[in-house]
Amino acid sequence: MSLQSEDNLIHTFNGITFTTRSSPELLKSLATFEAREDDILLASYPKSGTHWLAEIIMHLYAPSVALTSPIEFGDLSKLDQLDRLSCKRIIPTHLDSNMLPPTFKNKQCKAIYIIRNPKDIAVSMYHYYRENPNLPTIDTWPNFLEMFLKGNVVCGSWFDHILSWEEYTSGKNVLFLFYEDMTKDLSKAVKKVSTFLGVNASENAIHDICKKSSFSEMKSNTEKENNDPNHTVCALTSSRKLIFRKGTVGDWKNYFTPRQSRMFEETFNKKMKCSEVAKHLVYEF
Ligand code: A3P
Repeated sequence: MSLQSEDNLIHTFNGITFTTRSSPELLKSLATFEAREDDILLASYPKSGTHWLAEIIMHLYAPSVALTSPIEFGDLSKLDQLDRLSCKRIIPTHLDSNMLPPTFKNKQCKAIYIIRNPKDIAVSMYHYYRENPNLPTIDTWPNFLEMFLKGNVVCGSWFDHILSWEEYTSGKNVLFLFYEDMTKDLSKAVKKVSTFLGVNASENAIHDICKKSSFSEMKSNTEKENNDPNHTVCALTSSRKLIFRKGTVGDWKNYFTPRQSRMFEETFNKKMKCSEVAKHLVYEF
């Protein structure tokens, strides 16, 4: 791919890198979006397990809700498309909370934010950059890690993303869910989501949801499907096949050198000093 076409893949808005799949016009017009009281935001930094959580939420509500494409994906016509949906909307987003349409907060819409060990996110994102034609070419893992730590990647800095969402939680309407907890005890996590959303799923239903949302089940279902422009909850691709890579905890140990790990830890400690959420993160150095 030539440098010229690579340049056309990304742009910067509010100091954050976006792909051109999120048009500047749409990003600018988000402020005018009218949320509804019963909208639910499914928020995350990329590679945190967003599709996994989306699957769980959709099974909990099935069939009475619409899982939309990410609010930041598309052009100006996006807001009208969302307006036309008459049913309850589950709206995914990788936006920093400062960029959210203010009506989500004003109307106290519920939001679930999925969070994951950032070292595993860095590795997952490294592979995403390598395989996703919508993202610029990157070279080596050490160089990518440096970009990640500086926040010079799509959706900006992981650290700033978490901090912005932590600030957003001043109300009681945000549930932080940890990827690592989901891998340890999925049924407990599903119950937590069900209670938070007021869905009251039965034990049987929860058992069934856990089965349907296992990594192997989701991956094999995806392999049978054709791509569909509305098929991912990540504005960076429409190809679900790019999403299900390993689905494990601790893959970072296969990539980080001890020195890289220390460097990561220093940035983490500096940036997340005042973060309550970071204290709950299962974060092995
Ligand atoms: P890996 O690249 O480490 O495998 P997102 O949905 O936010 O883009 O996150 C993608 C990451 O979540 C990928 O991580 C993917 O494998 C993992 N994932 C997706 N579905 C999963 C599931 N059912 N169980 C565990 N991990 C899952």
